[in-house]
Amino acid sequence: MQRRKKGHASATPEQHPRQTMSEDTMKKTLIVFHSRSGYTRRAAQALAQRLDADLDEIRIVQPLAGTLGYAFCALESLLHLTPALRPSTRDASDYPLVVVGTPVWFWNLSSPVRSWLAGNRLAKGRFAFFCTMGGSGAGRAFAAMQELAGGAARATLALTDGQIDAGADAAIDAFVRALRAAPSAATAPAAGCAAVASSAGAARAGTARRVLVAEHRHIL
Ligand SMILES: Cc1cc2nc3c(=O)[nH]c(=O)nc-3n(C[C@H](O)[C@H](O)[C@H](O)COP(=O)(O)O)c2cc1C
Repeated sequence: MQRRKKGHASATPEQHPRQTMSEDTMKKTLIVFHSRSGYTRRAAQALAQRLDADLDEIRIVQPLAGTLGYAFCALESLLHLTPALRPSTRDASDYPLVVVGTPVWFWNLSSPVRSWLAGNRLAKGRFAFFCTMGGSGAGRAFAAMQELAGGAARATLALTDGQIDAGADAAIDAFVRALRAAPSAATAPAAGCAAVASSAGAARAGTARRVLVAEHRHIL
């Protein structure tokens, strides 16, 4: 079944309806995100407004709603599967800064964002992450995302659904300030963010293990 296939969707250039823009019209930041029920999309849109960024929604080839869809999300997340994606509309390598957003699924990143990170190379020091969640799992999700990206995020932002319902202005503003201030690959968690390790080694397994332990303490 295509949805369960491991690996990123491959596509010919004709299948990629990527938008070509001149340097004048090109924005400096791309926000790439997946959203199943709308929270991550709302956060991405709020960020895009503040950063004057382009948006690119990560969509899976065979989305499923309802209980069956939830079961697939659970399975893919727990088994670290990478479902096939629809072609991107933007080329992330065109942008000086790429912000990747995911919902937290079972204390980890969502499987569509795992697919996207596995299939796209991000330049060192030129990416940041945000996640949305019911209440916990951001630390482990960010550690896994950094591992997939091969380096430390410039900044991270974790928002709960409750915060997003309330607007999340302060946390989003702090994240935007951290993005604008951070000159290099150093991780700078903004207010309201889950703390991840601050060195480039954040992506390494040792850090992932420490974050995992912290998350488990949080859950228990
Ligand atoms: C399959 C699945 C697993 C989830 N696991 C977690 C979790 O481990 N921790 C948590 O706080 N929220 C969890 N949630 C809640 C979502 O992270 C949260 O509602 C998020 O904001 C949804 O984003 P979206 O509306 O953009 O899809 C889970 C949701 C789904 C669908």
